[in-house]
Amino acid sequence: MTKLMSKAEYEAQTAQTRDDRMTWWREARFGMFVHYGLYALIGRNEWAMSLENYPIKEYEKLADQFNPKPGAPREWARLAKAAGMKYMVLTTRHHEGFSLWDSKCNPYNSVQLGPKRDIVREYVEACREFGLRIGFYFSLMDWHHPDSWRCAFDPDAQRRFTDYIQGMVRELMTQYGKIDILWYDVARPMEHWEGWNSLQMNQMVRELQPEIIINNRSKLEEDFGTPEGHITAMDRDWEACMTFNGISWGYVDSEQAKPYSYTPQQIIKMLAKVCYGGGNLLLNIGPAPDGSVPQETVKPLTAVGEWLCRNGDAVYGKLNVCGNGNTSGVGSVSMKENKVYYWNWIWPAHGEMALGGFMTPLKAIRMLHDGSSVNFEQRGQRILLKALPVQSPDKGLGICVLELEFEEKPRFTRC
Ligand code: GLC
Repeated sequence: MTKLMSKAEYEAQTAQTRDDRMTWWREARFGMFVHYGLYALIGRNEWAMSLENYPIKEYEKLADQFNPKPGAPREWARLAKAAGMKYMVLTTRHHEGFSLWDSKCNPYNSVQLGPKRDIVREYVEACREFGLRIGFYFSLMDWHHPDSWRCAFDPDAQRRFTDYIQGMVRELMTQYGKIDILWYDVARPMEHWEGWNSLQMNQMVRELQPEIIINNRSKLEEDFGTPEGHITAMDRDWEACMTFNGISWGYVDSEQAKPYSYTPQQIIKMLAKVCYGGGNLLLNIGPAPDGSVPQETVKPLTAVGEWLCRNGDAVYGKLNVCGNGNTSGVGSVSMKENKVYYWNWIWPAHGEMALGGFMTPLKAIRMLHDGSSVNFEQRGQRILLKALPVQSPDKGLGICVLELEFEEKPRFTRC
């Protein structure tokens, strides 16, 4: 390894390459999170091992039953593609400590045990087949390794454990070709980057994968923030992670989860929120014990994908962060260069509607889904849309997006 940089040097260097590395990610907007591991067999959340105090020996037995059906990762990738997602992030090893790849550092893995298959490789191949960028989730915390708690107070244990962690990260960064995202999680029990040797670890990662994007959960700020379970804009690159049923990241019974799950409209509202605040949405599914996608996610995600085929311009690509007040409960906006996309949750009843607060001359208004033009009048800051159809022209979900094209980048009275 080349000489270790100081934290300041390292951060200055990664900041310099950030715009280039992040271009695709900033335009991708929407990704699929996949939580899959032994916990799927329990079906009571990926934290079951800890929350239910499973003795390690008893939990380990799950590995014998773990047997993803052939082609399961292709099913995830196919669904992600159909949903209009551009990248995926798979839990290569969650807190339970079971590695889904051929690991020499961690014999507790899916090649030595259970299916005797490299699920990470299958996943990587599926992502490539479906043209999706590839992300690896990797938990720092480990409930299975004997040093994983001792490392907080015993320097020898700390050395052994961080070597173990780094060994696994090295494997993931070298065995599968180009990887796009490294998504660390839960830096416990050592709650600081020094404890985890994150500075050294991430320099190694970047040496092996120069274009990689790293999240902020190894206790270094790195490339993006990760609001979890809520969509809150940050003044840096950010990605909100949400789980489809709002209950668990790992599999829970589909029938019971269904009533708690997001509808296509709610997912599109989440997308609107990330578009508005300049972030990304990483939406999670927890595959069933046999690896199949949870049934309740298929229809809604496919409907979102179909909607995105018609309205993707409002979502993908480089958006201007709005932060202006031109949204109300009945609609939302996203912006790109000289365009404003107005997302209608509630279609106006009488063939007319008005949008206020615009200070820039308007050139045209079109329905985004088919390009048909809309009559309008601009009176001062008020834009009056006329002769609209009486019902939302979006036959699928009822969310019609209007594309307003201005002479230049629009200015608002309430910016
Ligand atoms: C949490 C949980 C975890 C989940 C993750 C997703 O930190 O510990 O189970 O994988 O969030 O962001």
